Amino acid sequence: MYKNAAEFVQRKVKIQPEVGLILGSGLGDVVEAIEDPIFIDYKDIPGFPKTTVPGHKGRFVVGRCQGKKVIAAQGRFHYYEGYDMEQVVLPVRTMKVMGIQILIVTNSAGGINPEFSPGDLMVIKDHINVSGVNPLRGRNRDDLGPRFPDMTYAYDPSLRRLVMDTAKEMGLKVREGVYAMMPGPSYETPAEIHMLRVLGADAVGMSTVPEVIAAVHAGLKVVGISCITNMAAGILDKPLTHEEVMETAERAAKDFARLLLGFITKI
Ligand code: HPA
Repeated sequence: MYKNAAEFVQRKVKIQPEVGLILGSGLGDVVEAIEDPIFIDYKDIPGFPKTTVPGHKGRFVVGRCQGKKVIAAQGRFHYYEGYDMEQVVLPVRTMKVMGIQILIVTNSAGGINPEFSPGDLMVIKDHINVSGVNPLRGRNRDDLGPRFPDMTYAYDPSLRRLVMDTAKEMGLKVREGVYAMMPGPSYETPAEIHMLRVLGADAVGMSTVPEVIAAVHAGLKVVGISCITNMAAGILDKPLTHEEVMETAERAAKDFARLLLGFITKI
């Protein structure tokens, strides 16, 4: 499936991308910095799901960015939307077959670490998979990677350092932390957030982990950045809303794009 998809996309674009990006909702500003962009809607790609959620963009954007050849996945397939794990990781595998070596994943997340505030950016140093599922379950795709991939350095240590250094040079305050994936779509209960905090999570979300597992399996170097859009349930004595999540993501989008562009320049 991913091979046909990659061939299809490759035929539409002249360049072979080196860097892949997955942009979380509300975090798509960086696309504006892609020169001579070619847009390919997921719904037109063979093997990709035909359904897209209203209000969510679902497309690849291919072009040059800061001198690098990039492919950005603007919009992703979430597990909570009912897609199976093969579909969730299809964009990553397509980008891999097209030739990327580095994958930058982004998301919105709830802050569990009480020192965090909404609007903070967090470089993901590790993850905890609390989703109950794994995209590699089933027959191994031997053409992509091994049956039992090592996850010790899932978030590439030197690229992480590079993001932190970039942020420092730009005067942006950036956190580092552990991202936990819950399946959603309901937000967590305060008791669940307490559990995640005890387990060592700094932030929680409903995406990213499957894509990172598939990327590491396929030998990609991964960098992950979360936008802390809200404090997770029970950290503050107030309810969570999707509106708050979207508003904060939009507010932080400029800093987010600046950091990504600065980082892409350096890799
Ligand atoms: N929980 C889960 N996913 C999220 C959150 C949250 O608090 N905020 C943004 N995505």
